Formats: sequence, C-alpha cells, structure tokens
Amino acid sequence: MADTGATKTPPAPTSIWAKHAFFERNSIWLLIGILLVVAIGGLVEIVPLFYLKSTIERVSGVRPWTPLELAGRNIYVREGCYNCHSQMVRPLRDEVERYGHYSLAAESMYDHPFQWGSKRTGPDLARVGGKYSDEWQRQHLHDPRSVVPGSIMPGYPFLAQNRLQIEYIGEDLSTQALLGVPYSPEMVENALNDLRTQADPNADADALQERYPGAQQRDFDGNPAALTEADALIAYLQALGTMVDFKLYDDKANVR
Ligand code: HEC
Repeated sequence: MADTGATKTPPAPTSIWAKHAFFERNSIWLLIGILLVVAIGGLVEIVPLFYLKSTIERVSGVRPWTPLELAGRNIYVREGCYNCHSQMVRPLRDEVERYGHYSLAAESMYDHPFQWGSKRTGPDLARVGGKYSDEWQRQHLHDPRSVVPGSIMPGYPFLAQNRLQIEYIGEDLSTQALLGVPYSPEMVENALNDLRTQADPNADADALQERYPGAQQRDFDGNPAALTEADALIAYLQALGTMVDFKLYDDKANVR
C-alpha cells in the first residue's frame, strides 16, 4: 500500500476530520482557531455577568458597619493588621473546625477595601467577634505578651491614649455610600451621633438599633472619660463575624 506513512486510515474527504486536517497542518490557522474558540467560550461565561445585578447571595443579618465600627476598621487598615491577619475562613475542614463557619461573600460585601488577606502570621479574625472579652482585647492590644506569652504580635498601647478622630465620619459614610454601601442620607446625617451613642452605655440607643440592628453598645476601652481609638477598634473586632446567625441560615439552606 502506498500510504504516506501515517498510521491512521485517511478520513473520507467530506468528513469534518478532513477539514480539521487543515488546522493540524497550518499552525498559524490552528492558533487563530484556538483563539476564536476560547474567545467564544470566554464571552459565554463573562457576558451574562454584565446583566446580573449582583453575584452575591444576600444573607439576612448582614448590615453596613456602624460609624464606630467603621472608624475601628479604618484604624485596623491604618495599622496594617491585615499584614498578619486574614479575614476569610476558607471552606476547608481544618479551618471550619478552628474558626467556625466558612466565610460567605455577603459577609464582606460592604467592605471597601475587603480584608480577606492571604497572609496569616496570626490567626484569621473573620469570626473573632465575641470570642474574647473587651478587657482581653484591651490588654492584648496594649501588650500581647501579657495575655499570650509566646505572641509575636506587636503591642499598640497608643490606641488607648489616642483620641478618636471623628470629625470626618459623616464624609466617610457618604464615601462608602458612593462605593455602593447602603448608607442612607439619614445614616450619614446621624453618623457622629450614632458613633458617640454606641460608645456610651448610658445613651439612648433606639435610633442606633433601628439603623444598625444588633449594634453592640458599651464603653469598649474601659475608659468612660474618653473616646479613643481603642474604643473604635475593639467595637470593630467584637462585631467581626457576628452578623449572620448561622443556626438560622444552616437550618433553612441546609448548608454544611
Ligand atoms: C506581626 C504580625 C501581627 C500584626 C501586625 C498584628 N497581629 Fe494580631 N496576632 C498576631 C499573632 C502571631 C497572634 C497570635 C498570638 C496572640 O494571640 O497574640 C495574633 C493574635 C491576634 C488576636 C487574637 C486572635 C485569636 O483568635 O486568638 C487578635 C484579636 C489580633 N491579633 C488583633 C490584631 C489587630 C487588631 C492588629 C492591628 C492593630 C494586629 N492583630 C496586628 C500577629 C500580628
């Protein structure tokens, strides 16, 4: 048989294989063909996303940060806590057993910028809210080694001394609103009041609770005489991961 050396049977000229042989013999056309097919595949995956309003499943309980928590979050970012702490529990067994329910996208939907992080010199903080008392948090921030002897975390004793800068909290909220966080004009207008109310256990918190359901109200830094950066940061830490009631969520959605 005068075959050309190919081991396969030559396909019938009309079959698709004959057409494909064209691409197999012309590498440039093969490349162009690949690009075309990948582009179509890409478009099919990407274009629908432009028509979806959101890819984040809404979860009840998730609300924007209160002004005090937002101020604390700003300090968290300023001090670079994210360099050592992630805020995302991955859906892996060891993480879920150590930190609690894996993080949901909705839980950080109001975070600009988000604090997921990829570096864990210290533990994940996504669910640290309520894990320790305020007193522990104060002591730990002041001098980590006084409560965790082997800790390599630096101390932040100045936070309890620094007066919290609150002048621009309204602007901060309206900037977050620009980014899509549902802060209403009423929330922006009352930002300063709400901030003071949350840190003052004797203030009337009805309006605060209405605007930010479940907001914890107390003197976080243990010093009622001053509104400090520690007040804000601890308010933020104690709120982390506490908004979603997972018992309710799991029963309903049968997750996990
Ligand atoms: C140099 C890395 C580093 C930086 C920066 C850092 N931490 Fe830590 N953090 C650690 C380590 C390590 C631990 C574990 C030991 C301990 O508890 O002190 C820890 C523990 C913690 C814990 C207790 C977590 C738990 O579940 O036990 C909290 C809360 C915390 N850090 C908050 C902060 C905050 C807030 C900041 C920023 C003001 C910060 N950390 C900055 C390394 C760091």
